[in-house]
Amino acid sequence: MTSLLAQQQRGSCSEAPGPIPQTPPRNWPGAENAALGKTEYAFEMAISNIRYGEGVTKEVGMDLQNLNARKVCVMTDKNLCQLPPMKAVLDSLTKNSITFQVYDNVRVEPTDQSFMDAIEFCKKEEFDSYVAVGGGSVIDTCKCADLYASSPESEFLDYVNAPIGKGKPVKVTLKPLIAVPTTAGTGSETTGVAIFDYKELQVKTGIASRAIKPSLGLVDPSHTLHMPERVMANSGFDVLCHALESYTALPYHKRSPCPSNPVNRPAYQGSNPISDIWAIHALRIVAKYLKRAIRNPEDREARAHMHLASAFAGIGFGNAGVHLCHGMSYPISGLVKNYKAKDYHVDHSLVPHGLSVVLTSPAVFTFTAPMCPERHLEAAQIMGANTSTARIKDAGLILADTLRKFLFDLNVDDGLAALGYSKADIPSFVKGTLPQERVTKLSPRPQTEEDLSALFEASMKLY
Ligand SMILES: NC(=O)c1ccc[n+]([C@@H]2O[C@H](COP(=O)([O-])OP(=O)(O)OC[C@H]3O[C@@H](n4cnc5c(N)ncnc54)[C@H](O)[C@@H]3O)[C@@H](O)[C@H]2O)c1
Ligand SMILES: [Zn+2]
Repeated sequence: MTSLLAQQQRGSCSEAPGPIPQTPPRNWPGAENAALGKTEYAFEMAISNIRYGEGVTKEVGMDLQNLNARKVCVMTDKNLCQLPPMKAVLDSLTKNSITFQVYDNVRVEPTDQSFMDAIEFCKKEEFDSYVAVGGGSVIDTCKCADLYASSPESEFLDYVNAPIGKGKPVKVTLKPLIAVPTTAGTGSETTGVAIFDYKELQVKTGIASRAIKPSLGLVDPSHTLHMPERVMANSGFDVLCHALESYTALPYHKRSPCPSNPVNRPAYQGSNPISDIWAIHALRIVAKYLKRAIRNPEDREARAHMHLASAFAGIGFGNAGVHLCHGMSYPISGLVKNYKAKDYHVDHSLVPHGLSVVLTSPAVFTFTAPMCPERHLEAAQIMGANTSTARIKDAGLILADTLRKFLFDLNVDDGLAALGYSKADIPSFVKGTLPQERVTKLSPRPQTEEDLSALFEASMKLY
């Protein structure tokens, strides 16, 4: 099996990852592990339905007709409500005589309260289908509204990730949700994840279940042309980290416990040979097109490729998971001070998600590299580093330097200090990272509280 996989990857595509991804363990642990609660022996690749093409949004009205939709909720945010992506969706719905209502009250970087407002609206209206038009904030809010409107008896924390919520498995069937992503970032159109800022704890958390994955993602690159420079940059950094983290995540067969029932196998399972393909391909696209897409909003080719990269990375990390950059980003966003993100048309302070993940990336990959240095070196090489004479033990430092240079070239703030944080915030950052076990346990290298403190400290200043 091992050599078959290797052959397939070598033979099928010259762009396949260089070193063969972590292959399945030689001594297959087998299903008996489940009974013993030991490490995992299987992984599951959940599919995502994507339709890609410039102008493909015009088909959404027909899709809803094909679904026999009678009452549709179109969800977006106040800014996008005025922009061409929303117009394209509404035109298609009108042309196909679809009855709909618009909910435009989505909060950019949603909170528990903004999720609940959307849930209340959708429970009252009893929609039979949903269309989410926006970035991750909109798509996540819509997934969550669909979930709780389909499960009206549930309390909000029932499905929220443990230990913050109860982490119950979703057993209800949701209504169809068509996602029309307008950023090139989260890949939320492909994932079973919805993230919100839990205000009481000042930390982000979420809901993760394959059941909330959108029924279809309509990836229409024409929408990316409207993205302001920093939204393009920050959402692109999210793609970069999704790819890097899922490629370097703990291999699935080292994760424990092994579930005794497949329903309990998490969506985030650790790196695996199939997710690896999606992650590494996404990384190649980022390396080739992200700078161009940021610097020139009219570069259709670059922006279109980044839109696809976001979906590629989403399918990869949606099944493999992310680790420390994401786990540590949740308190960075949750504890926002007065930082006003350029190009985000909102009246509240926010640290955009992509920025909150990428600022710790040099420190994180320096820390994780000793566990799988070949992968870190391969990533550095894809990102443009000359690794021909590199020593494998320097893999982490080489990747970190490559990332720092990439961020510097793109005028990214100089670390957490530039966002208004200081060393005094580190204990709260660490406290907010500890409950993020769903992702931090996927780090290839286990970490202590002292390790986390050191990683935050090293991320205060980058250049
Ligand atoms: N579900 C997942 O798998 C997943 C993964 C990563 C991040 N997230 C979450 O997604 C959220 C971030 O989403 P995001 O980065 O996509 O951005 P976003 O949805 O927060 O939008 C950012 C800003 O860009 C504007 N915008 C979006 N598309 C535009 C366009 N085409 N033209 C002009 N303006 C546009 C929005 O109106 C908003 O002001 C965070 O809450 C994050 O935690 C979710
Ligand atoms: Zn992300």
